[in-house]
Amino acid sequence: MNDKSHESFPPGFPQRRMRRMRRHEFLRRLTKESHLAVDDLIWPVFVCEGEGVRIAVPSMPGVTRFSIDVLVDEVSKAHALGIQAVALFPVTPSEKKTEDGAEALNPSNLMCRAVRRLRDACPDLGVIGDVALDPYTTHGQDGLVHDGYVVNDRSVTVLCAQAVLQAQAGCQVVAPSDMMDGRIGAIRRALDEAGYLDVAVLSYAAKYASAFYGPFRDAVGSTSSLGPSDKKTYQMQPENTEEALREADLDVQEGADMLLIKPGMPYLDVLHRVKKNTGLPTYAYQVSGEYAMLRAASDKGWLRWNEVLLESLMSFKRAGADGVLTYAAVEAARLLREAG
Ligand code: PBG
Repeated sequence: MNDKSHESFPPGFPQRRMRRMRRHEFLRRLTKESHLAVDDLIWPVFVCEGEGVRIAVPSMPGVTRFSIDVLVDEVSKAHALGIQAVALFPVTPSEKKTEDGAEALNPSNLMCRAVRRLRDACPDLGVIGDVALDPYTTHGQDGLVHDGYVVNDRSVTVLCAQAVLQAQAGCQVVAPSDMMDGRIGAIRRALDEAGYLDVAVLSYAAKYASAFYGPFRDAVGSTSSLGPSDKKTYQMQPENTEEALREADLDVQEGADMLLIKPGMPYLDVLHRVKKNTGLPTYAYQVSGEYAMLRAASDKGWLRWNEVLLESLMSFKRAGADGVLTYAAVEAARLLREAG
């Protein structure tokens, strides 16, 4: 039985009542334009040295750095929940950091060992390697520094070797997060020459010089290395969108298989336009500062975590993303499974 409305209807009132379609849960479900699924989630994880080690990241409550053995357990559980891929970031011990970040090219570095163990333990899981030098350099920059400037072409040569090494270790996807010019094409060629024709390149196509990366730099220990320096001579300025479209176009021409926009929520317009323009699989990175904001406010009781988490992730899907990198991937996967 339908209730009749008790409201009165002034003449000339609009015929089209938008609220009609919001009246019942079933109609709200039938009219959903965007969908968020466990398949959309990529989990960025921090790996550290040691055995049985779990070290919390204070500026990211709920996020933990894992030694390889713990990582394998935790990632296997995440995979069982339906998470399809992880993006790995190494916490390099400070004694292994150098001016030139040579540890990045050590075939038995933390990253490569972690990749091999993960591929052994979960053969179907996607393992995405981070291609950039910042976890390995004493100055915390993503490339090589010459006379105080991050040089492009010499950095690209090292990044190519790093990408090939990660492919050798087992990454099915390599993700250059460095923003050097021409690196997508150079990495593609290097992978092909080394025989890794099927290793995909996920380009951080538009990565902004953002203050939202702070907690990540704490997590990988590059905050103190970087000191008061910034990355403005290679990461994009927050004012620009047209430039992001040109960056994405170049990466497509150079052979990128997938694109990524970073940060996420403050740059939804960029995500939307890049996806529309290129049609390539495009991902949003809900970065450390975005996670920290939602988490801190929730921990204070000012926001409801479960709801703001899912709403923030949905915003990426609505803007056109094919998927999202989020530190809350495991929690989101649980919530999505509970919701059915
Ligand atoms: C650097 C890199 C950064 C992040 C991922 N890779 C930070 C930076 O540019 O300093 C940030 C991720 C986050 O904040 O969650 N290659």
